[in-house]
Amino acid sequence: MTTPALGIQDITFATAHHRLDLDLLAQHLGIDPAKFSVGIGQEAMSLPAEDEDVVTMGATAAARILADNDVEGLRTLIFATESGIDQSKAAGVHVAALLGLPAQIRVLETKQACYSGAGALQLALGVVARHPEEKVLVIASDVARYDLDSPGEPTQGAAAVTFLVQADPALLEVEPASGVHTADVPDFWRPNHRVTALVEGKFSISAYMDALEGAWEDYRAHGGAAFEEIDAFCYHQPFTMMAVKAHQRLRRHVGASLPKAQVVEELAPTVGYNRVVGNSYTASVFLALLALLDGDADLTGQRIGIFSYGSGAVSEFFSVRVLPGYRAHLHRAEHAAQLAAREPVDVPRYRELHPGTAVSDAEQQANPRVTAGPYRFVGIEGGVRRYEATGA
Ligand code: COA
Repeated sequence: MTTPALGIQDITFATAHHRLDLDLLAQHLGIDPAKFSVGIGQEAMSLPAEDEDVVTMGATAAARILADNDVEGLRTLIFATESGIDQSKAAGVHVAALLGLPAQIRVLETKQACYSGAGALQLALGVVARHPEEKVLVIASDVARYDLDSPGEPTQGAAAVTFLVQADPALLEVEPASGVHTADVPDFWRPNHRVTALVEGKFSISAYMDALEGAWEDYRAHGGAAFEEIDAFCYHQPFTMMAVKAHQRLRRHVGASLPKAQVVEELAPTVGYNRVVGNSYTASVFLALLALLDGDADLTGQRIGIFSYGSGAVSEFFSVRVLPGYRAHLHRAEHAAQLAAREPVDVPRYRELHPGTAVSDAEQQANPRVTAGPYRFVGIEGGVRRYEATGA
């Protein structure tokens, strides 16, 4: 019996209602806007409205997958996030209810900073390898928040990526080889009482690049493709210039150095979404992949190398093959429409929307009706979070 290909049948993203242009933030901070647009490679950030969160974004993206695919056999939903809304209950349980999924489904949440979406993909592949008739829905959804007036502030953002993992997929085959690397490093963390992350920014950049070398070597040791057999590279992009730094480092590591300008050009097809959405933590590396897939180039048959990094730090390098006919499964128009529909805010409004540092202990909260999306975070009643479908 031949083992069927395992991989991704469909993948899409949703983002938040508001957008802050970083030129406005630079003006407010009295710094050169080129520091953001050129130095870190960011133009704008998505910001959730008061009635949005990781659940509403995740459900929005997942609803598109359910509408366009046969989901017979869907028995597992994995929700990856590092901006979770409860210390006990998986956010995916709210999503399953909003989407009307049957009770015969296992739901769990995964956490390891920005890595846990890629980790969830590997767990999902394990499920379908054992039960090829089953499907797994993975949701990677995050709101990236740093303190106001901190170095991380311009790298905030919000998005959810959802994908359906199954045997005989239509879009991407995930190749079996993968390389992993874990090191106990204090580069970024978020204690339970904080909404915003604590970060040693410069240290996190070097920890990321050390992890890349480690994961790459492990990928090669486990039968992974040689550097020159990989057609394109997608990196986790906490800010898009991070991908450039990383790829320069990998090129140097394998003896294929290129000047920075050429590396910027090489990675350009992968940065379009993250440049305008900002960091979306677990979703970020998949937004890089989506930008590449949604681009004009025909990628049929190409091998894409993917590097996921989650501070703390766990990382993985793996590769996918783009399957013939993949273009019929893309959601380019919906992605463009969503980004264009975001309502711009000025800096005073952005600062009002920023939740501050401490986690709220509100047990009653009625959220204003703002989002134009299909799901709302209605508020908190007696400590319980309430969500609803808007009919949009
Ligand atoms: N025009 C063009 N480039 C400019 C510029 C200007 N006017 N002013 C500064 N720059 C460049 C700097 O030279 C630097 O480039 P380099 O990285 O190639 O040296 C870049 O912009 C960033 O400037 P820097 O002064 O280093 O920024 P910072 O101290 O404000 O912080 C981060 C940058 C990334 C450390 C910060 O945003 C952060 O902490 N982010 C969150 C953590 C994170 O994302 N970590 C990544 C790994 S997970």
